[in-house]
Amino acid sequence: MRSLFLKIFLWFWAIQVLIGLAMFAYWSIQPETVQTRWHAATSSAISMYSQAAAEEADRYGETGIKNYFERLKGISRIQAGLEDESGKLLGGVVPEQTRPLITEAKTTGVPEILVKEDFTYAAIRTTGPAGKTYIFVAAMPRPAPRGGPQTQYVRWAMAILISGIICYLLTLYLTRPILRLRDATHELSSGHLSARAGADMERRRDEIGGLVRDFNHMAERLEALVTSQQTLLRDISHELRSPLARLNVALGLARQRASEQEQPMLDRIELEAERMNQMIGQLINLARMETASGPPQPSRVQLDEIVREVADDAEFEAQQRNCSVKLDAAQTCSTEGNPDLLRSAVENVVRNAVRYSSPGSSIDMSLKSDDGWATVEVRDHGPGIPEADIDRVFRPFYRVATARDRESGGAGLGLAIAERAVRLHGGTVTAENQKEGGLKVTIRVPAKGGNGNHG
Ligand SMILES: Nc1ncnc2c1ncn2[C@@H]1O[C@H](COP(=O)(O)OP(=O)(O)O)[C@@H](O)[C@H]1O
Ligand SMILES: [Mg+2]
Repeated sequence: MRSLFLKIFLWFWAIQVLIGLAMFAYWSIQPETVQTRWHAATSSAISMYSQAAAEEADRYGETGIKNYFERLKGISRIQAGLEDESGKLLGGVVPEQTRPLITEAKTTGVPEILVKEDFTYAAIRTTGPAGKTYIFVAAMPRPAPRGGPQTQYVRWAMAILISGIICYLLTLYLTRPILRLRDATHELSSGHLSARAGADMERRRDEIGGLVRDFNHMAERLEALVTSQQTLLRDISHELRSPLARLNVALGLARQRASEQEQPMLDRIELEAERMNQMIGQLINLARMETASGPPQPSRVQLDEIVREVADDAEFEAQQRNCSVKLDAAQTCSTEGNPDLLRSAVENVVRNAVRYSSPGSSIDMSLKSDDGWATVEVRDHGPGIPEADIDRVFRPFYRVATARDRESGGAGLGLAIAERAVRLHGGTVTAENQKEGGLKVTIRVPAKGGNGNHG
């Protein structure tokens, strides 16, 4: 569910860490320029110090050197030493570490510099104003590095942590509207047409804000459209009731005056009027369910009882077609909802099975409960439904062409009613053709309120 979040978050974070590493690598591979500059600066400083020391030595002798070295130490913490060409110490100190430097400096004439432990050592050959040659050495304490390797790790950890927090916030900012939009879409598609994506997101001025505005606009249009369609359906079905009632009254009157030969015609009219009445009743039911948000007057419904009763009722009808209804398993289980609606759902499915199953075959029913769901399966041995139509049979008035031709009686409302009724209970109905022929319809509703077999 959070996969988009995770993807964006991890990518952002990885990229930030990589950039950090790249920059670190760049600076640690490039230090030559830094070192060269440092070397040049140190060399020129050493040259200056050495010339000053040679001048002091030429002019004022050992006291001059001593004074100068003391000043140097006071100002820049440099310990200096001066020797003459033969290696005789003239002033200051010459540390052991500078010995190899001195040997080299004697031949090269440029400052020899060596970094060792906490000091930078340097040696240079220099000539005073009087023409005497000296060897000048210096030991400069290096500035203490800021923290050891431990602090380096802590710093890296801090940087990664901080970039992680930033990435987290950024990802949240990017994905939250998408997740909320998805929630709204889910709600909308599950029938809550009033679902909208938050008004606060609509105010955003970026593309996501635009998307949210478009989505809400679409949802509004959809709601208006569906509502008007539902109102139309409800109004029409209600409006048809009264002319039908008047028709029945007129039929009664006509019967009284009609002759014997005319009675069969009137019977036919009565039959058709009764069919119409049933159809209108179904339509009113359907319209009511479309607008409801949950089952009316919910109570505990014993599903196994309903399934048993429907199977018994259907058995009678089935026998007329030389079929039989077999209830293979009926686990004790119950749900929360409206018993009449659930019964009509199961009944519509079973009646279809009885009607469309081939003569002499059996209709297999079962009720099972597990994982918190109660599952009713109804399987027949008829022609099934063409694959292309299989999802559409749950739409009102939808009938497969053969059923329409056959004049099989229904108006195509049975499965639509079943589907709405089950959906009101938070369940689903699916139809599936069987390989060996025939159709299997599965009704699933959440099992609630105690369950005989599973405690
Ligand atoms: N068990 C079945 N076997 C074959 N076709 C079926 C079956 N159940 C439903 N159908 C098809 O689905 C259509 C819709 O079913 P339904 O909504 O109950 O309407 P009807 O009033 O025609 O029974 C039917 O007209 C029929 O073509
Ligand atoms: Mg039907």
